[in-house]
Amino acid sequence: MELLKNICRNIFKKRSIEDLIQTSKKTELKKTLNVFDLIVIGIGAVVGTGIFAIVGAAITGNSESAGAGHAIVISMVLAAVACIVPALCYSEIASMIPVAGSAYTYTYATMGEFMAWMVGWILMLEYAIGNITVASAWSGYFMQFLKGFRAYLPDFVLNFPIWLRYDYRALYSMCDKYGWDIHDKIPFIFDKIPVAVNLPAVVIVLVLTLLLIKGVKESTKVASIMVGVNLFMILSFIIIGSHYVKPENWHPFLPVEPVSGILMGTFTIFFAYIGFDAISTAAEETEKPQRDLPVAILGTLVICTVLYVCVALVLTGIVPLHQIDSLAPIAHAMKFVGKDWFAGFISIGALCALTTVLLVYQLGTTRILYAISRDRFLPRSWRMIHKKFKTPHVMTWISGIVVIVCGLFMDLKISADLCNYGTFTSFVIICLAVLILRKTNPDTHRPFKVPFSPVLPLVGILICLVLIFFSLNTLKTSSNYFIIWLAVGFLIYVLYGYRQKRIGEQKRG
Ligand code: ALA
Repeated sequence: MELLKNICRNIFKKRSIEDLIQTSKKTELKKTLNVFDLIVIGIGAVVGTGIFAIVGAAITGNSESAGAGHAIVISMVLAAVACIVPALCYSEIASMIPVAGSAYTYTYATMGEFMAWMVGWILMLEYAIGNITVASAWSGYFMQFLKGFRAYLPDFVLNFPIWLRYDYRALYSMCDKYGWDIHDKIPFIFDKIPVAVNLPAVVIVLVLTLLLIKGVKESTKVASIMVGVNLFMILSFIIIGSHYVKPENWHPFLPVEPVSGILMGTFTIFFAYIGFDAISTAAEETEKPQRDLPVAILGTLVICTVLYVCVALVLTGIVPLHQIDSLAPIAHAMKFVGKDWFAGFISIGALCALTTVLLVYQLGTTRILYAISRDRFLPRSWRMIHKKFKTPHVMTWISGIVVIVCGLFMDLKISADLCNYGTFTSFVIICLAVLILRKTNPDTHRPFKVPFSPVLPLVGILICLVLIFFSLNTLKTSSNYFIIWLAVGFLIYVLYGYRQKRIGEQKRG
């Protein structure tokens, strides 16, 4: 009985805000980021696969679900609304507790160590597992980009073996689709184990891992150039494309099934908004976190929403609905109006966008793992700081290797769904944390406050819960994976984290 009481006391044990801030003050991470760097991180994390690829599917729908049609702009605004309350909540807490670890750290301060560990584990879905989808999309655009130079590149660069371009699941489904014999396409070890590696995806993750080890400032410098190229391409698309818009293409504005079409569109395009919370993972490396974090988080969301709505209006104004491409809709729209050369440039913009998403997500993964390991739930050796570059290099390698290895086995659609679950859950937690902190720490200085609390955080929780249950109910396979993921996280805590934490406490006396 005593043992049970002890366990309960421990798993609900919270860390005080003062303690968290004290720990972060001792940080060995360099404080180099300003509001501009943070917005670069934000836009870098947000603008990517969603607007360059997924928007097509959100407009047209697929065999399972209706699309939003021209009303995609309504879906985009709704998706932004679903993000705005969690964004406000992130701003309040990130400015109040400017400590690395994002929702993991905030949960520790409000709901205790067990929930904190589980949230950290769930965040890995959003960051590390989500990156598997992005790495694979990157590889697809890279191949397209190379094809643009087919006149200048040797054949072995353009047509290297197919089993070095796709993971084995993608190859199996291609063989199914085109009636190919799988044994003609890929080698097998002992006639049983297929050998297929998405080499471009592996290489880009390795390159970014090295870049992140070299330094955050260096990484954001590279990211800011890429964000610049990517924004330039999107703005050029809006400006050039607007000359070809035919307003009659926008009619009829609503899809045949307006409610389900717009809701499914919102659900699909939500992926395009994921990422602004990555800003809060860099809190400890920010010069003036209290002022800069809220400005950067809200700024990123507003900039992205305006850009997305403009892109959607131009896209649906240029191309008749039934002709919108569901894989590369923006590049296709430019080909549609005879601007083939510009379609090539768009793939450069897409590559830059996907690279920055990868970079920021890898950064987020390592910083969350760093905070978890600092709290002793993960081995101490993982958070070793590189002597010269002052970055957590072991953790950075681990994050890179996880993405590469999981990318070899995981279905990409499932990794995207898991990323959504991770994000929705962290949004619920963050809204809940605001409500709890308002009660437990009413007098702590809050440089930024969510207006209309508790109504707005409650609305945020409600919207996210509806989205979680809606998707769990619809997507059976990935919901099973989600439950397995939660069970594995629980076991790691019970068998390792809990004990390590107690040993650490005893050592500290
Ligand atoms: N928002 C990110 C993207 O669209 C995840 O790629």
